[in-house]
Amino acid sequence: MSGTLGIDFGTSNSAAGICVDGKPQLVTLEGDEPTMPTAVFFDFESKKMLVGAAASDALLAGEEGRYMRGLKSLLGTRLIRESRLLLGERLDFMDIVARFLREVKTRAEMATGQSFTRAVSGRPVRFHSDDEPRNAQALEDLKECYARAGFDEVRFLNEPEAAARASREVLNPGDLGLVVDIGGGTSDFTLFRQSGQQDIDILSSYGVRVGGTDFDRQLSITRVMPQLGMGSPIRHAFGSETHIAPNAIFNDLATWAKIPFLYGPDTIRDAKDLHKYAVHETRLARLVKVLEEELGHDLAFAVEAGKIMANTPEVENPVIRVGMLKRNAVLPLPAEMMNRKLKVLANKVGEAAEAALAQAGIAPDAVNKLIFVGGSSLMQVVEDALVDRLPCAEVHRGAALTGIVDGLALASGDGWQ
Ligand SMILES: Nc1ncnc2c1ncn2[C@@H]1O[C@H](COP(=O)(O)OP(=O)(O)OP(=O)(O)O)[C@@H](O)[C@H]1O
Ligand SMILES: [Mg+2]
Repeated sequence: MSGTLGIDFGTSNSAAGICVDGKPQLVTLEGDEPTMPTAVFFDFESKKMLVGAAASDALLAGEEGRYMRGLKSLLGTRLIRESRLLLGERLDFMDIVARFLREVKTRAEMATGQSFTRAVSGRPVRFHSDDEPRNAQALEDLKECYARAGFDEVRFLNEPEAAARASREVLNPGDLGLVVDIGGGTSDFTLFRQSGQQDIDILSSYGVRVGGTDFDRQLSITRVMPQLGMGSPIRHAFGSETHIAPNAIFNDLATWAKIPFLYGPDTIRDAKDLHKYAVHETRLARLVKVLEEELGHDLAFAVEAGKIMANTPEVENPVIRVGMLKRNAVLPLPAEMMNRKLKVLANKVGEAAEAALAQAGIAPDAVNKLIFVGGSSLMQVVEDALVDRLPCAEVHRGAALTGIVDGLALASGDGWQ
């Protein structure tokens, strides 16, 4: 018998679940982990596309190949339909997302012994903030990816609404709750009232394209990229004048989804030109090294690890480990420095929460439960931005990484019409 699979296809991590006797049951896709990295690696040696942890492991082991993460953020952009030659096949990024989803389907089928022809998938409330045509296109793209992955039908549920469904136990009838789901790519909100022990009324859902990968990007641009020459002077070929190195390469190098496109001959030539005329020669030499040796993702992982370290109170001296630039080198990242750098983004998340309330005509002090899910909800700077705005709400921490898939698993048990 074919069944319905709940799938949380995340920017950074994905998970799957089914509904058993009215309860959500997580399907383990990888070892004992509840989630798997949304990552792929085209391995040039074995000529295979690796998925999940195997993809990240291959990258970190320095295998020859092409690594990709953050593919979800390409939905709705022109780039997603651009094709390239990978392992002898011409593929666009839709195909790559589809193959990732097909792998989720296959693994779930292996784990459960069922076959899945239908999916209930999460979706961000707004993939691209205010850009409505792009939001609509992103949903169309995702639908098509599910079809290419071999699902006959797919239904979508706003990610925070799924988390709201899975949060019923922590609320009492009459409670007004706000789910705050801060993931890798977007921040999403659902305001709901618990109307009975098992029922919720959704009052509003809202979202903004700010997530953990934007925090990584901001930290990379302000803390790491200057060490590679961002913002530094470049001499003119003739005369004594200088100009500032253009930002484009650095911005892309700090953006997870853009890194794989930087290793072509044109970008390396541009970087070498900058290096030739650089006032800070050693910095631009690092840029050339990162591009030539394809170290962009290693750098991005180092920034992400530094962010998590700086957000962990027990760590005394948080740092970004940049040994790939210079042996054993570290860049200190004290918590207060990080929080200062991320304040503007955290406030954008806070403002989006206010907009979710305004949409439903609810005053901030009427909300009495705040339910945090998503990996980036663990960021102190984000929690502060929300708690300041919702002074009467009691904070609940749902399962940070599985709150959404639990709700999707529950929804997969609903009738299909
Ligand atoms: N302990 C932590 N402290 C701070 N950030 C963390 C921590 N653990 C994970 N993160 C961040 O959480 C993000 C991933 O969260 P999550 O898995 O919820 O995202 P996602 O569901 O893949 O993305 P989205 O829902 O936006 O598509 C990453 O940016 C990661 O760096
Ligand atoms: Mg998510």
